[in-house]
Amino acid sequence: MILVTGGAGYIGSHVCIALLDAGLDVVAVDNLSNSNKASLDRVQSICGRSLVFRLADIRDEETICEILRAFGVTAVIHLAGLKAVGDSNVRPMTYYENNVLGTMRLVSAMKRANVKTLVFSSSATVYGIPRYLPLDEKHPLDPTNPYGRTKLVIEEMLKDLCRSNDGWRICNLRYFNPVGAHESGLVGEDPLGVPSNLLPFVAQVAIGRREKLRIWGNDYDTPDGTGIRDFIHVIDLASGHLSALRQLRQPGLLTVNLGTGNGYSVLDVVRTFEAASGRSIPYEIGERRAGDVAVCYADPTFAKDALGWTSTRSLQQMCEDHWRWQLQNPNGYHGSKLPTVRERSRHLRRHG
Ligand code: NAD
Ligand code: UD1
Repeated sequence: MILVTGGAGYIGSHVCIALLDAGLDVVAVDNLSNSNKASLDRVQSICGRSLVFRLADIRDEETICEILRAFGVTAVIHLAGLKAVGDSNVRPMTYYENNVLGTMRLVSAMKRANVKTLVFSSSATVYGIPRYLPLDEKHPLDPTNPYGRTKLVIEEMLKDLCRSNDGWRICNLRYFNPVGAHESGLVGEDPLGVPSNLLPFVAQVAIGRREKLRIWGNDYDTPDGTGIRDFIHVIDLASGHLSALRQLRQPGLLTVNLGTGNGYSVLDVVRTFEAASGRSIPYEIGERRAGDVAVCYADPTFAKDALGWTSTRSLQQMCEDHWRWQLQNPNGYHGSKLPTVRERSRHLRRHG
């Protein structure tokens, strides 16, 4: 049985699908502070298998310990956390409390329950401003905001835990820019309020919820002047967790980038999304956004060597799948119900 913290969230729900599809049993824990339990109802509907859901906070050590013991958990995939960069500048202590203290309590509960296998959601944001490209795992770590620093503190804490020679097997996964959705269109990213990330904003413009995209600067030193990122399909990202779990056979620490190694510009994304959706994406050029870098993409070599994992999905597929989710759920999970029999049979016809 695998415990997935933050299992109802965007990446967590796709990780649950990957685990269930691989025949593993799952208990998902979430405090639903940034998600909707409907995501997990849909996960079960997609996989045709059930999982256990517990409404709980990772800072509640007793409850987490009880869950670990009650379900005979053997490994934890830890995604629960707060992730908004701007918000972390405004209320940094909330981020340290939720992310760092939350992970400390989780690890304590794991130690008490003698569960010592952990896959942790880190972020490419730990690298800060790239000093060279592509970013490999040896690149210096220098995050530029409180959110990124919570991720770095946790990575360091987990490194010390492994150094204690107490049998811990830990993998830090540094995600680049996860986008897209499950190909069924039933599960995807459902941001609260105005999206700050590119793909959710573009998708909301395409569906007509927002008038136009504002591109944060077209005067970067890049071929078309707009920022370049390593967008990775959330399904590829989720499968990276399964590879990490399979690799954690010996005590020790692994730290791995999950990216594609390809950089695409904001304008590349706009054009690809227009083609995928058949809708036009009006945009205007604004000032650069504070804290943005011109170019950021991964060196995925170590992920291939250490985990035997590579991403396979193209930017076009990312946009198509993101669009299908947006089209079928114009308001995300809000007011959502389980997929209708028609939706479910359409999915089964397509995907078996
Ligand atoms: P998300 O907000 O959709 O998922 C996080 C989930 O954790 C939510 O369901 C939320 O309700 C839950 N949660 C938060 N605090 C909790 C707590 N104290 N106890 C229990 N549950 C709690 O975000 P996501 O995009 O799915 O991100 C998952 C993880 O990946 C996060 O740790 C995030 O920092 C990391 N990450 C995300 C990205 C990205 O672009 N989405 C990039 C790099 C790293
Ligand atoms: C942001 C976070 C990063 C986090 C990542 C994934 C910042 C400074 N960084 O990275 O820590 O790990 O999200 O969650 O917030 N863009 C626009 N208009 C928009 C939105 C975005 O032009 O409305 C541009 C940005 O300027 C950037 C690109 O699109 O060039 C990607 O932006 P975004 O999706 O926010 O991701 P990151 O900036 O890479």
